[in-house]
Amino acid sequence: MRDYLVAGNWKMNGSNAANSTLLSAIIAGAADHAGIEYLVCPPYIYLGNVAEQVAGTNVQLGAQSVSEHAAGAFTGEISANMLKEFPISYVIVGHSERRALFGESDEVVADKFVAAAEAGFTPILCVGETLEERDAEQTNDVVSRQLAAVLGRVGKAGFANAVVAYEPVWAIGTGRTASPEQAQAVHAHLRAEIASVDAELGASTRILYGGSVNGKNAAGLFAMADIDGGLIGGAALKPEEFLAIGAAAVAA
Ligand code: PGA
Repeated sequence: MRDYLVAGNWKMNGSNAANSTLLSAIIAGAADHAGIEYLVCPPYIYLGNVAEQVAGTNVQLGAQSVSEHAAGAFTGEISANMLKEFPISYVIVGHSERRALFGESDEVVADKFVAAAEAGFTPILCVGETLEERDAEQTNDVVSRQLAAVLGRVGKAGFANAVVAYEPVWAIGTGRTASPEQAQAVHAHLRAEIASVDAELGASTRILYGGSVNGKNAAGLFAMADIDGGLIGGAALKPEEFLAIGAAAVAA
């Protein structure tokens, strides 16, 4: 049984005042949505305040990234041990913006996955192809490579409980979502890849879809056999949209 996970990636958005208003609405709505998991991933600097506000609610806290290094001369970076100061459950690694804008290679993403997992967090590993790669029919190869860079490193034991997020780059922030069938095809491929390492791990690993998910298209996506929730960007900043996505997960 894979519980749906509805995860909000706030990216570099928010302020203490805006976060507080957003969270009040999310917390109130989420209280009526039993049986699914809600997660919010604010910028690092807001983790403390958001932690206070979500304490005792059914909204969990996550981080958007983590340094692959333990400590030292890495100006501007945040280590896994520092994240342990907060009641964090999940850490996103390998988001396409980190890969494309900050040069994170498959190797670095694997290092970050290991840093997060060893600190006791559940990594959310993002994979996804660009439009050029899709047009060249390389989608499965690309996501297989991105997955294998981590799964090949950590193996079955290290991947236990990890979450995968399939996020086609061309669908992120573009309003152009993958169709449920397009997403399902890649999710099924990813699940088969995980199952080839261990059948039980394949069956139990949650695979989220991300890329322009909103309150309207979520139900169609979540109806697919291998889609276990969403990693939500823009719509996570609008409480009515985020909660509508949660409601779709409850109904699925
Ligand atoms: P989006 O972002 O929902 O705004 O497309 C998703 C993501 O980047 O995780």
